[in-house]
Amino acid sequence: MSIEATDLSKYYGDIKAVDSLSLDIPHGTIYGFLGPNGAGKTTTMRLFTALTEPTTGTASIAGVPIHDRAALTERIGYLPADPPVFEELTGQEYLYYVARLHELEREQIVERLDSYIERFDLVEDIDRRIEGYSTGMRKKVGIIGAVIHNPEVLFLDEPTSGLDPRAARTMRQMIGELAARDMTVFLSTHILPVVEELADTIGVIHEGTLVAEASPAQLKNRVESEGESDLESAFLELTQERDVPT
Ligand SMILES: Nc1ncnc2c1ncn2[C@@H]1O[C@H](COP(=O)(O)OP(=O)(O)OP(=O)(O)O)[C@@H](O)[C@H]1O
Ligand SMILES: [Mg+2]
Repeated sequence: MSIEATDLSKYYGDIKAVDSLSLDIPHGTIYGFLGPNGAGKTTTMRLFTALTEPTTGTASIAGVPIHDRAALTERIGYLPADPPVFEELTGQEYLYYVARLHELEREQIVERLDSYIERFDLVEDIDRRIEGYSTGMRKKVGIIGAVIHNPEVLFLDEPTSGLDPRAARTMRQMIGELAARDMTVFLSTHILPVVEELADTIGVIHEGTLVAEASPAQLKNRVESEGESDLESAFLELTQERDVPT
């Protein structure tokens, strides 16, 4: 398994941001993580990437327990919803810095960076300082930084939000290619066609609890009996403001 979680919980005072989450996600899976605002998606990713500690429960990513942060860092990549970047650096300097942290060789860095920069149409902007970047440029630099060391498991929080249609398509294509190369991709999004196109498995989280886990086709069929068979209807039914049977 690439991602394993057992009864993982994170509480903030009375708020159960993540409540007894258990997951088993095999290698090479694209896992789409859906849920309303405040459902616990970002908190789950912060737990899996060791940016916050669980209140209770355990998890391991690519076989590494999440409390072993140093070992984890080499095996995972993370694109936060708002990628943190160093404003005073250029995109190129920032990415070179990230790659050096992963101890990549100079030649390797240049080769990988050049191809990603071209792919994401950043050639003209990569030598500008990040403080002058648009939302989409920041996101593009963020995703390149997240995959530069070829991680085994990639966490993407809202990867296509803020991207123009061309960049969003590049992002979707890249996610598909990375998974085809056996990378496991765990992504959250509110854009349902993205998960419908990409995800092997969809998990729906509501108020910190996993309320459904199925393939996109299976999930759509859950509401077919009521005359509607689409992901949006399934999502809305699963995340109504009441206790939903699983
Ligand atoms: N650092 C924190 N301190 C207090 N409460 C927090 C903190 N981080 C998250 N929460 C709470 O935990 C819950 C889950 O938040 P989270 O950010 O994981 O949701 P989300 O599913 O990513 O939502 P969105 O779709 O809006 O990004 C929310 O009630 C949020 O207010
Ligand atoms: Mg979030």
